[in-house]
Amino acid sequence: MPTVHYIEANGASHAIDVPLGENVMRGALYNNVDGIVGECGGGLSCATCHCYVDDAWTARVGGPASKDEEELLEGTASETKPNSRLSCQIVISEALDGLVVHLPESQY
Ligand code: FES
Repeated sequence: MPTVHYIEANGASHAIDVPLGENVMRGALYNNVDGIVGECGGGLSCATCHCYVDDAWTARVGGPASKDEEELLEGTASETKPNSRLSCQIVISEALDGLVVHLPESQY
């Protein structure tokens, strides 16, 4: 099972095994990682699953998956950066084994 490394804004790090086909938001929620809320359950309507993809992984993960994601990223509580993504839109594949995501200070 691929491992995702979640780094909280305070530096706390969590290595979580996330099943293939699952998304990065649920991987955090199911394992009580602070820093991702996922209020809409992955319905692409809340932006409380904002994360920053580590620089080493941005090419592999790619940019916003859709126009809707792009628009939601404009309204995140914490600063939007070029490596910002909504974690519910990042689906885990073998290619993302070892993925590192940084969590913003706040989702509200
Ligand atoms: S969980 Fe709501 S947009 Fe990702």
